[in-house]
This record gives sequence, C-alpha cells and structure tokens, in this order.
Amino acid sequence: MRTTVGIIGGGPAGLLLARLLHRTGIDCVVLERRTRAHVEGRQRAGMLEQGTVDALRECGAAERLDTEGMVHHGIELRFDRERHHIDFPVLTGGRTVTIYAQTEVVKDLVALQLAEGPPLLFEAEALAIERPESENPLVRFVHEGREESLHCDWVVGCDGFHGIARGTFPAALGRTHEHRYPYSWLGVLADVAPSCEELIYARGENGFALHSMRSPRVSRLYLQVPNGTDPGDWPDDRVWDELDARFAIDGDWTLRRGPITAKSVTGMRSHVHEPMRHGRLLLAGDAAHIVPPTGAKGLNLAVSDVRVMARGFTQLHLTGSSQLLDRYSELCLERVWQATRFSYDMTRMLHTRPDRDAFEEHLQLARLRRITASRPAAAELAANYTGLPIPL
Ligand code: APR
Ligand code: PHB
Repeated sequence: MRTTVGIIGGGPAGLLLARLLHRTGIDCVVLERRTRAHVEGRQRAGMLEQGTVDALRECGAAERLDTEGMVHHGIELRFDRERHHIDFPVLTGGRTVTIYAQTEVVKDLVALQLAEGPPLLFEAEALAIERPESENPLVRFVHEGREESLHCDWVVGCDGFHGIARGTFPAALGRTHEHRYPYSWLGVLADVAPSCEELIYARGENGFALHSMRSPRVSRLYLQVPNGTDPGDWPDDRVWDELDARFAIDGDWTLRRGPITAKSVTGMRSHVHEPMRHGRLLLAGDAAHIVPPTGAKGLNLAVSDVRVMARGFTQLHLTGSSQLLDRYSELCLERVWQATRFSYDMTRMLHTRPDRDAFEEHLQLARLRRITASRPAAAELAANYTGLPIPL
C-alpha cells in the first residue's frame, strides 16, 4: 500500500486530520487498532472550544453538533458555599463554548470517512515506523491477521498516549516533561436532567467536584478521589451524597439524582513531548501531550495540532513550500504549554491535596476570590477556557 500521509490512530486527532487532508485533495490512510464499536464507545470529555466547533463546521462535520450541541455562555465557580458566574461573551468579546461529547465527534467523523473516504482501517495495528528520517518512511502494521506495509511520504502519529509513534523518536532527540497529580477523578454518567445550565467547577471542603452534562436528559459528574480508588467502593448513594456535600451553597439549589449508568476512575497527569516532529514523522494530540481534564483542553489541543498540520500539508501540496511544516513543532508547542499551564493552574486551584495545609488552602481561596472580584482576572480565565488563538 502507498499513500501521501500515513496516519496512525483513529481518535479525534487522526480522524479530523484525515478529513482536513481529504478536503484539500491530499491522499491519506488511517490505521486504527481497535474496532469501530470500541472507538465510538469510549467515554471522554465533552467541552469544545469555539475554534474546535469552527474547524468541524469548516470541514462539513458539524451537522449533528449544530443541532444537538449545547452552546454555553460561561461556567460557574463554587467555593465557600457561594456561586459565581463567569460570563464568557462579556469577558472575551463574544466567545462561547459548546458541550458535545467527544464520543459523538468521533462517531460523526467515522461516519463521514467511511462514506466519503479516505480509507479508514479498523483492527489495523501499527507495529513499527521505519526510516522516519528518510523521504520514504514506512509503517508496518497487522490487518486481518496479515502483516502489511504502508509506504508514505509522511507519517503522523495520532496514536494517543499509549501509541508507538512517540517511542520512534531517537532517545537523544526527544525530551519528555511530566507532572503527576496526587488525586484522580471518579466520573459518572446519570440518566437525569442536569441540575444547572452551565458547568459547575466546585472547590468543596473535601475536594473538587464538576457538574457537566451530555444532553438535556443526561448528566456527567466528577468527584476528586484518591489515586488508586476502586469505583466499586463508591455505591451510587455515596456518590450522590459526596456530590451534594461538595456543591453545597447557602441558598436555594438542589442536585437532582437519577440512575447512574457508568462509573470509572481516571488518573491525572501533565505530559509534554518535545519536539513534535522528527524528520517525516509528526505527532499530534495525546501522542505528544496530556493535560489533566480540569481545563477540558485535551480534545481541543488535538484539534489545534491537526489544524496547524493540515495547513502545513496544504501549503506543501499547493506551493511546494515546507515552511509551515518546518515550524510545526514550534508553533504547536507554544499553545500546548499555554494549555498545560492553564490546566495545571485550574487543577491546583480547585483540588485538595492529600497533604493539605492551611497556607495552600488560603492561596487557593485567594486565587478564586481574585477571579471573582477582578474583571481582568476573570477575563484571563475566560480567554484560556474558551481557547487561545491558533498560531496561524
Ligand atoms: N496502531 C493503530 N492505532 C493505534 C495504535 C497503533 N499502534 N496505538 C493506539 N492507536 C489508536 C487508539 O486505539 C486510539 O483510537 O490511536 C487512537 C488515539 O486516540 P485518542 O487516545 O483519542 O487520542 P487523540 O486522537 O490524540 O485525541 C485527543 O483528547 O480528550 C482528550 O485524551 C482525550 O482522546 C482524547 C484526546
Ligand atoms: C465533560 O463534560 O466530560 C467535561 C467537561 C469539562 C471538563 C472536563 C470534562 O473540564
């Protein structure tokens, strides 16, 4: 098999890149090691920055998003038993975000690609990337029990945090920066109408809680829990009682309860791999960087990476210039570090450390009070949350 751009991984990064390339007439192939059902069934986050929505619209993948996505004009911060609205359009000159589950974005992109191309192979696992420094790199993969080779001009690793692409960088060239957090998130899906109109980020006495949603009938909620927590230790009543305690305010507000249909625990880390390009191998999305979910940046960063990359491939295709592709790593990493900083700050401001001390807690509250008391401080949060500009 031969193609111009060989894409490893059919998550949001790989699928959107394929769509963008296809629309500019650049041929590519996506190899995805899992089944379609597995890829479409994964529960992930669901907050889309405006730039992400614009990108999906521009490539004709937003039909369902435009009818089912929920446009949000802000978030609520809760601490000290009080609620504070952060108004995005007012603070950012009109920007909003959209709540639409990542798993739905993936379903929409898979359906389009299977209908219109380019080729998307499920249960096709990349085993190795060879000759990334040369002009004709190659991906060895297994499909339907047979080992095959995909000859490419370029290879893109969109294969997530556990993929093989990052490991192909020579050790002397790549550098990894990592931070692990001393807590995890217990996430639940519940068949009950959300108890709020916008997302609630709460700093409770016993830790962080987040109220998000999937539709007018389905709520998505998260609780900070200790690392190593077994979801089995959290029967439904315990989850609701703890959510109640962390969202509690002085004043009228009730958390609606309903049947919990899914429960899982996710660890939290920040991870950045530099550079994001080696020869003719480029990385995008979780293959290159991970952020904790507090700022909801994971999917949005994957989208901004592939937008920059698609621009670079288009420039090369149309003009023969590799100027943008040559700056790919530098352009993306600037935005990646900004999102890493924002996610870290949001996480540290809202979670309770196991070794909590009064000094740290006063600082957390001082940061939160500053955001709610000062318009420039709130505007800074709103600018980062709704998404910094894409460097193009
Ligand atoms: N061969 C083929 N496919 C692979 C291989 C391999 N060797 N290794 C991994 N994959 C596939 C995975 O099965 C997965 O479907 O690569 C895909 C990577 O997708 P994601 O993990 O979703 O990563 P990405 O596309 O970068 O999406 C960014 O945003 O909200 C965050 O972490 C969240 O998924 C998320 C991400
Ligand atoms: C989600 O809806 O799953 C979600 C929203 C915002 C976050 C994290 C997760 O910060």
